[in-house]
Amino acid sequence: MSTENPYLKMEGLTKTFGKVIANNNVNLQVNKGEVHALLGENGAGKSTLMNMLSGIYTPDSGSIFIGGNNVKFSSPKDAIDAGIGMIHQHFKLVDVFTAKENIILGQKQGGFFTNNKKMGQGIRELSQKYQLDIDPDKKVYDMSVGEKQTLEIFKVLYRGANILILDEPTAVLTPQETTKLFKIIKRMTEQDCAVIFISHKMSEVMEIADRITVLRKGQTIATLDKDKTNPKELTDLMVGKSVDLSIKRIETPKEEIALEVKNLSVLNEEKVQVLKGLNFNIRSGEILGVAGIAGSGQKELCESIAGLYPVHEGEIIFKGENLVGKKPAEIIAKGVTMSFVPEDRLGMGLVASMNIVDNLILKQYQAQKGFLINRKPAIAKAKEIVKRFDIQTPGIYHPIRDLSGGNIQKVLLGRELDSNPELLITAYPVRGLDINTCHKIYDLLNEEKKKGVAILFIAEDLDVLIELCDRIMVIWDGRVSGILDAEKATREEIGLLMVGEKSDKTEGAYAI
Ligand SMILES: Nc1ncnc2c1ncn2[C@@H]1O[C@H](COP(=O)(O)OP(=O)(O)O)[C@@H](O)[C@H]1O
Ligand SMILES: [Mg+2]
Repeated sequence: MSTENPYLKMEGLTKTFGKVIANNNVNLQVNKGEVHALLGENGAGKSTLMNMLSGIYTPDSGSIFIGGNNVKFSSPKDAIDAGIGMIHQHFKLVDVFTAKENIILGQKQGGFFTNNKKMGQGIRELSQKYQLDIDPDKKVYDMSVGEKQTLEIFKVLYRGANILILDEPTAVLTPQETTKLFKIIKRMTEQDCAVIFISHKMSEVMEIADRITVLRKGQTIATLDKDKTNPKELTDLMVGKSVDLSIKRIETPKEEIALEVKNLSVLNEEKVQVLKGLNFNIRSGEILGVAGIAGSGQKELCESIAGLYPVHEGEIIFKGENLVGKKPAEIIAKGVTMSFVPEDRLGMGLVASMNIVDNLILKQYQAQKGFLINRKPAIAKAKEIVKRFDIQTPGIYHPIRDLSGGNIQKVLLGRELDSNPELLITAYPVRGLDINTCHKIYDLLNEEKKKGVAILFIAEDLDVLIELCDRIMVIWDGRVSGILDAEKATREEIGLLMVGEKSDKTEGAYAI
């Protein structure tokens, strides 16, 4: 692999938004046939750099060279014509269209007189070349997240892209789908494409990347060969100082049962039972982790405790009182807070067009309807949250829509923790966050635990659940398939319970 003549060269790129210098004199060189990972904390400037490469933003200064030619993009179309294909975090597909129709839409030449037969042939050839599984006649709304992403990749390859940008592509994928995506990426590099891969998951970067460029606070810190570095060095470079990546399980006295869920059953809109008689409890000062494959009832569980999902049967006893039938505002007022970060990280209960202050007020308003809201405390709190969570923003009055995904998530958590809850329900709080911020969140959960808060923590990373939690409840198909002592639990055991199989060892774990 020659680094003398990189296929893509970005030199001295700078981009500012108001007072924020998102990219400050950034350099990046990418070769054909390589997977080049971009690493950096949330807000480091990764997406901004890629948005300049894909013609969405115009650089304030600096140059981009492709195959030795200086290119200037004034629109995404220019970038597409130059062979740049960006797979966005939020897919840009038309739901009611089939895969084929979506591909036509994205074509270079107007799709009007597209020859159907020729196109079918083209799709077949391309899917063979890259071994992409595409059903041309499947409608997007029938597709899984993984299938949609494959279609997005297909779309840009069909338009002739040879530099692929994947901005946090695995944030929305299951482990199985990620394995598939990695095969596709390998295939693309074998076909001499250059792939730029952004991910916060260090293990993925170490698996797939050839080289890694680290950005910090808008600047290029280093470009390293994957084989000559390690996660600790990379994290330290990202953060700018030595980072402790251990997770501590702290001991707290656990006496009182704060939450007791008895025989909880809920039905979805189609009257299908999605929670099938859950029984569990959480004590004050305890973190109960929840493991399970996506869609096993996690969302319904969170929402039914928070009063957002109708309960069909059962009881949710919080501090001796049944919450079933109570309104969300009453439940918040009693000291329950719930945040759920969905796979696509949209719809987290924040309003994108509003600033941090107004988003704080929104929550306050939910809890105490009818009262006049005083803005002053919210302003002070917004400032405090920005400082405590190190949120990168032009200011507390800036619409949160413009913040990077991780920063938006920090606003959400800051708001939830701010209400001094006694029961904290948090689902996927670290989704898409950089490794250092993840650890800050784990520390925060421990801080809450120390205060005696009962915590229901739904997460994807089994290692984190094992290291941080007191007990781990595994759910499968709307049922509790096991509750384990986290200290003794193993990944294998949890994995089996996640697909509804019990190992002999877990038999006794059913009793709470
Ligand atoms: N359109 C925008 N308006 C204002 N600030 C922005 C905009 N886009 C990005 N930023 C800011 O620029 C910085 C870099 O953001 P981004 O490139 O999204 O980081 P990353 O992708 O590494 O998380 C952040 O501080 C972010 O809030
Ligand atoms: Mg980003």
